[in-house]
Amino acid sequence: MSSTQLVIALTKGRILDEVLPLFAQADIVPKEDISKSRKLIFDTNRENVKLMVIRGSDVPTYVEFGSADMGVVGKDLLLEYGDEGFYEPLDLRIAACRLMTAEPIKAVPVQGRLKVATKFTNIAKKYFAEQGKQIELIKLNGALELAPSMGLADAIVDIVDTGKTLKANGLEPRELIAHVSSRIIVNKASMKIKNSVIREILGQLREAVERN
Ligand code: PRP
Repeated sequence: MSSTQLVIALTKGRILDEVLPLFAQADIVPKEDISKSRKLIFDTNRENVKLMVIRGSDVPTYVEFGSADMGVVGKDLLLEYGDEGFYEPLDLRIAACRLMTAEPIKAVPVQGRLKVATKFTNIAKKYFAEQGKQIELIKLNGALELAPSMGLADAIVDIVDTGKTLKANGLEPRELIAHVSSRIIVNKASMKIKNSVIREILGQLREAVERN
């Protein structure tokens, strides 16, 4: 990869619908429709910028190890992954949601250890430890909202946006753990080696964020 070639890792799914318009305002436009393609890496209108589209939970890994120079990823995944391995210079203020605990509606307090199902095990461990609460952690990869009604857990830790998914599954939000939005992360070596192009893009994205 030449020192001016820049790879930016994005996440497929609903974040992408908010990221692409922001990138367009910063004059980074994929050459083809990402949502209609099976490809995972895309050329853009800028000859030196490529966009990769991967799972959100893999964005920090690609950026930490430098296979991508920059990435867009939710703060929830950064809190879970740890944010030591890269810089986090910009909050894009999109895909806003909350990381919360949730329990069955009007559930009575549990005696003894609370069983908590989540895919955010590091976040949950830290949060309940800070509260001085002993919990039993149950790692799930999705459909967390089902765990309490199926008797697998007393509570969950998950992303809440409108709250509709919780409600539809007989749950209610309880404690706020963190506000979440999408962040730009940058590989530490790339920030030095490709400083001018990265600073230019960060500046354009910052202006786009301020305009919105
Ligand atoms: C998230 C989260 C909830 C849902 C909350 O899932 O895990 O299931 O959104 O949104 P709501 O409060 O508006 O109902 P997402 O659709 O991002 O997919 P995921 O299961 O892969 O996390």
